[in-house]
Amino acid sequence: MTSSAARKASGKPRRKPAAGAFFSVRDSVKVVQGRSGPKAGKRAKFLADTLVKHLHAFIKEARPSMDEWMQGIHFLTRTGQLSNDWRQEFILLSDVLGVSMLVESLNHEKLSGETESTVLGPFYIPDAPRYPNGANICLDGKGEPVLVRGRVVTAKGKPIPGALIEVWQANEDGFYDVQQKGIQPDMNLRGIFTADAQGRYAFRSAYPRHYPIPYDGSVGDVLKALDRNPNRPAHLHFKVTAPGYETLVTHIFTPDCPWLEDDAVFGVKQSLIADFTIVNDPARAAELDLPSPFREAVWDVVMTKSSRRQR
Ligand code: BEZ
Ligand code: FE
Repeated sequence: MTSSAARKASGKPRRKPAAGAFFSVRDSVKVVQGRSGPKAGKRAKFLADTLVKHLHAFIKEARPSMDEWMQGIHFLTRTGQLSNDWRQEFILLSDVLGVSMLVESLNHEKLSGETESTVLGPFYIPDAPRYPNGANICLDGKGEPVLVRGRVVTAKGKPIPGALIEVWQANEDGFYDVQQKGIQPDMNLRGIFTADAQGRYAFRSAYPRHYPIPYDGSVGDVLKALDRNPNRPAHLHFKVTAPGYETLVTHIFTPDCPWLEDDAVFGVKQSLIADFTIVNDPARAAELDLPSPFREAVWDVVMTKSSRRQR
């Protein structure tokens, strides 16, 4: 017996479906949003509803074919499968779509004069060696010598003694130590310094070079399909922490890198481009135990008080 025959036989009238019970293209957003129950968390519901609204608008505008939809599913599956403790393909995807920089910038709006932030990237490790000020973090001896120094200060210019300055960068060949285990010395080009009583820090290193982000995976396929450059302009990473201040994650970029205006992850801000002056002073070079000439970047870090953002 069919179900309608069974209903007729039982004498039960057909129940009218509740409004929004069935899916339609026109009401797709309302139907999906309407399924959450009374116990849904307020923030979770807001995030999911907003995502559904924009995702459905994207699908209605782009109208992917069934094949394209399946390709999208395969792409996301592969992105997940490529992610592990050492590689985070989803963060890389967020990076090349400009999402990381958008989230980052919206969460760290700065008042004029405070040092701007940028992406953390996948090559930060928290347990780098701690060094005294002036130490050389370039353990492979490659690249042009550089002295980076400056002060960590408040927006009013007061020193912040004891601030921790973590730095890391790629080597002359464009790779981080963690990408070349057994090729570069462990902990090459990374270290943690402590601001002195006047807020000063200093370290010796190598002039950074541009390098490509990992592009042998699903994100690389996106870059290739869109004829996009995989390079990041030459930079040196900083993470600066001090009690009472927002943690600052930033870079300084070299001013002469050809990729400054085409960063694969959109991390460049004008205020983060530093001067790396060529110093031709053999006596000073000898004092610093650097070859002559060397480059010098003077980079002050202006921290943001953590209380400012309490809303
Ligand atoms: C980095 O600067 O280390 C980086 C940032 C985003 C993606 C890949 C690398
Ligand atoms: Fe980097």
